[in-house]
Parts: sequence; C-alpha cells; structure tokens
Amino acid sequence: MEVSRIFRDEAVLDINYIPRILLHRGGEMRFLRRVFSYLLTAPGEMSQRVIITGGVGVGKTALAQRFGLDIEEEAKRLGRAVRYLHLNCREARGSLFFLLRKAVRTLKPEFPERGYSIEDLLEALLTLLDERGLHLLLCLDDVEPLIEAEPDALYLLTRVQEERLERPRRLSLIVIAKSLEAFRPLDQSTLSTLQRNIISLSPYTRGQLLDIIKSRATMAFREDAITDEALELISELAAEEGGDARYAIDLLWRAGKYAEAEGSRRVLPRHVRGASTTLYRGLRAEELQSLSLHEKLLLIAIARCFRESAKAYASTGEVEEAYRLVCEEFGEKPRGHTQLWKYLRRLRSLEVVSISLEATRGRTHRIALRVPAGALEGEVKRLIER
Ligand SMILES: Nc1ncnc2c1ncn2[C@@H]1O[C@H](COP(=O)(O)OP(=O)(O)OP(=O)(O)O)[C@@H](O)[C@H]1O
Ligand SMILES: [Mg+2]
Repeated sequence: MEVSRIFRDEAVLDINYIPRILLHRGGEMRFLRRVFSYLLTAPGEMSQRVIITGGVGVGKTALAQRFGLDIEEEAKRLGRAVRYLHLNCREARGSLFFLLRKAVRTLKPEFPERGYSIEDLLEALLTLLDERGLHLLLCLDDVEPLIEAEPDALYLLTRVQEERLERPRRLSLIVIAKSLEAFRPLDQSTLSTLQRNIISLSPYTRGQLLDIIKSRATMAFREDAITDEALELISELAAEEGGDARYAIDLLWRAGKYAEAEGSRRVLPRHVRGASTTLYRGLRAEELQSLSLHEKLLLIAIARCFRESAKAYASTGEVEEAYRLVCEEFGEKPRGHTQLWKYLRRLRSLEVVSISLEATRGRTHRIALRVPAGALEGEVKRLIER
C-alpha cells in the first residue's frame, strides 16, 4: 500500500474517535465530576441524573463519553465498581426494549436474545448489577426518539431506585438531547428529578474551533502537511455552520483527501474550498452509516428521482419504481410496500427526506429530498461499497 504524503493517522479524524482531552469544555467536565463525585467515594449510596443539551456537533456525545470513560477508569483505580455505558437511542430506534437488552447483553453477553419483556430486562439488569456490586452510569444519547416512542421510559429508569429503598444505588443517568424541548412530554415529577442538573453546551466560536482542529490536525497529519491558512478557513466555515465541531473535523479530513487526490504535499485553502462543496448539512456520514442496506438502497432511489429533474417532489409510486430498479442493480430482492413505509419514516426522522400529503389527490403522499441528490447518491454508494 502506498504511504500517504498527507496523513499520519487518519483514524484520529474518524467519527468514533474520542479525544483524550476536550478543549474548551473544562467547566462542563468539572461540573460532571462534582455531580458524580460519589461514584469515586460511595457509589452504592447515591444516584444522580444529568441532562446535556446543545446543537449539532457541539460536543455532547464527546463530553459524555470522555467523562464516562475517565470516571470509570478512576473508579477502578480506587477499587470502586463503576461501569459507564453509552447507548444511542436513535440507533435503538427509540425502543426501551432494545436499549435495555443492549445494556444487559453488554454486561452479560450470553444473556438470551428473546423471551423477555421490558420489566424482565430491567429486573435482570438490576440483578446483574447487584450480583456484581456494580454501579452503572448509563448515558442515553440522542434521547428524542425514545421519549417520542415511549414517554414512560425515563420515568421507569428514574424510578427503579425508589422501589429499592434500602438497597444500594445501582443506576445513574446522563441523558442527551438537542434541546430541553425534547423533555416536554414527560410527566412533572420525572421532569423535576431530571432537570436538577442541566448542562447546556453553546456552539463553538471560530477561535475554539481553530484550537480543536489544530490539535486534531497535529495528530492526524504529517508534519507541515496542512497550512495555517487552510486551518483558519476550516474554522471560519465551521463557525458559519453554527459552531459545529463535527463539520470542522469532517472538512479537515475531506480537505486532506482532496489534497491527496491532487497529489499535493500540503493542504491549502483551495483544497478546503473544494472539499466544502461536497459536504452538506443534513448529510451526516454516521447517520447514513446506521441505515440498513435496504434503507440505503431506498435512499439511492430517492436521490435518483431528483438527480436529473428540476421537480421538488416525487410520488411514492415513482420512488418505489426507482427502488425496484436500484435493487435489481445491486442484486437484492425488493422489500414490500409496508416495509418501504417504515424505511421512509426512518429517513424522515433523520431529516433526509420530508413526506407530505398531496393536496389535490387526497391520500397520495409526496416526497421531497432535503439534501443535494448527487452528493447523497455518491455518499450512500460509497458506504455500501465499503
Ligand atoms: N471540545 C472538543 N475538543 C475536541 N474535539 C471535540 C470537541 N467537541 C467536539 N469534538 C469533536 O467534534 C465531533 C462532534 O462532537 P460530538 O459528536 O460530541 O457532537 P454532538 O453534540 O454529540 O453532535 P450531535 O448532536 O450531532 O450528536 C466529534 O468528533 C468530537 O470528537
Ligand atoms: Mg452526539
């Protein structure tokens, strides 16, 4: 394999990479440490909940994960049995059942897949924690779909302790959402137990973004492979994108790829500009990655409906037809109508498409694409081929 002239360690720019130090989030980190300090001293005696909110790419996930891994590590050193578990509610499709099963099976991989209810799973989780004398710090990331699908889920999780009056505390929660709005459907008492500790992350400024990508670039790029001007341009563009650090890091990676493809030795501002035109808001690689194969095929089909036409909407019939063609191309058996509807709703929840009723024809639905078709098709195809 050819050695890159640009990158030293691309993995540092991967979406799943957790930075060792979160720049400009020191205050929030200290707040978490204060709230959860009992995990280091007497984890059986308390249980706390924290909400983290903030817009896209402001470091909610990174903050929780860094904190969780650090406290787990430190607790271990001090001989306290604390476990951090990070679960994404969107990936679990908003199902408390999936989330609990994941939690139980993480602690006990041989736990059977089937034959359990939510109550059984919760019980099994607490029993496991009891048996091992463990305190679980559970992070529910992207909690919106969970609250939407199961408004009682958080109630259940915040209440489990109360029913175990004299027993040790086993479960603490970090809940992440884009905004506090998400918690509105909750009942008053769940709301008040949750809302005691709120961390609200504001968008990064241009200067903060510059610090973040600089430190990432030092690890990811070869020495002198990226210019200061390029870094500044990236931070500028990401600040305009709402202070989104993920956008900044994506752009950093793409600019590197762009320069590499050109055979350049250094990343220059023009590579950043070139890369920025292939990066769109609402088209997030990690969300696309979480789609099933057929959801991806459907997305390609939708993109094709719009790629060569100027129209704003496609009918479900058109989309289905395009989907069958795409399936043929990929040698896949097309899924049925009902299944396609499920896929469409998922795509809508990712804000890639919107679905509305056509006014004139009563019950027919029409579908609009919210991101550029060409870029979308390219991106999804690349994911499938990978
Ligand atoms: N303070 C920081 N220092 C270093 N890297 C950061 C910082 N904040 C965020 N990042 C990086 O930026 C990217 C986006 O952060 P993160 O995924 O935590 O955002 P988020 O708020 O969870 O976004 P979303 O709402 O889309 O889930 C990640 O790669 C993360 O590692
Ligand atoms: Mg996140």
